[in-house]
Amino acid sequence: MSNYSRYIWFNGKITKFEDAKIHVLSHCIHYGSAVFEGVKCYDTNKGPAVFKLEEHMNRLHKSARAFKIEIPFDVKTLCNATKDLIRENEVKNCYLRPIAYYGFDTLGVHPKNCPVEVAIATLNWGAYVSKEALKQGAKITISPWKKYKSNAFPSSTKASGPYLNSMLAVQDAKSRGFDEALLLNEDNSIAEGSGQNIFLIKDNIFYTNDQSSNILLGITRSTLFELIQELGYTYKIKTLSQDDLFSADEIFYCGSASEVTPIKQIDDHKVGSGKSGEITLKLQEKYYNIVRGKDEKYHKWLTFIN
Ligand SMILES: Cc1ncc(COP(=O)(O)O)c(C=O)c1O
Repeated sequence: MSNYSRYIWFNGKITKFEDAKIHVLSHCIHYGSAVFEGVKCYDTNKGPAVFKLEEHMNRLHKSARAFKIEIPFDVKTLCNATKDLIRENEVKNCYLRPIAYYGFDTLGVHPKNCPVEVAIATLNWGAYVSKEALKQGAKITISPWKKYKSNAFPSSTKASGPYLNSMLAVQDAKSRGFDEALLLNEDNSIAEGSGQNIFLIKDNIFYTNDQSSNILLGITRSTLFELIQELGYTYKIKTLSQDDLFSADEIFYCGSASEVTPIKQIDDHKVGSGKSGEITLKLQEKYYNIVRGKDEKYHKWLTFIN
């Protein structure tokens, strides 16, 4: 419980943590009919600031539309709610979890008149993969579970039900002693991590895939495109094969929660020197400076709370 803050924004009101409850027959519990976001707030020298808040709330709405979940609050209201919640909870660094879901009306799969409910929580979450992995690099494994195709679910949305695929992959990875999973597509091309996009670096060029590889088009992924260029490198978007993976000099995962996590090992294969890649760490430092408000040029990506 101590990782969770005092209040949750719940259907328009700042509500005590213990009062933010839903009915056991809510549609979302039975069928995973919910869309959500993972956002981070960082302590800066101008107080707490949320990174790319509006973009995340826009994606929440986009995900909801894909599943015909009509969110009764517009993006501006959700952004203001987030700011109010951070102030009420008096948190500086936190992970934010906005979620919209079908509540209780019917147990039929068709949601009919299920109400759409919305909550935003703040959590005290540290490094997503691990503190050590951020510095020393993570050990990942190719999952026996394949990534679902975007003709089964719209993969570039964040919806709860489809995350069972990620859950299986990360449970398997952890049970075999790895930090994270890497999911492949049916044709064995690279998809993504259970909660991260992937980048490879070879001969000083960055490579990543796109929606044709059934990935979530991460907000961090597109942030990094700009930073990669600013560091003087180029990136290419292509379908990534296992050959690309095993011949890469450096590999890293990225995501709002995972930030820039170097990868040092895939199953028994050492990536590059078997340590965090040098260029990856440079990019990671640049990312940290920006999210922590140390680079004024990028204050445009931060929503300052005070
Ligand atoms: C499956 C998956 N891919 C990629 C990402 C990275 O997305 P973002 O950078 O928008 O956090 C996430 C993070 O939520 C994810 O769950």
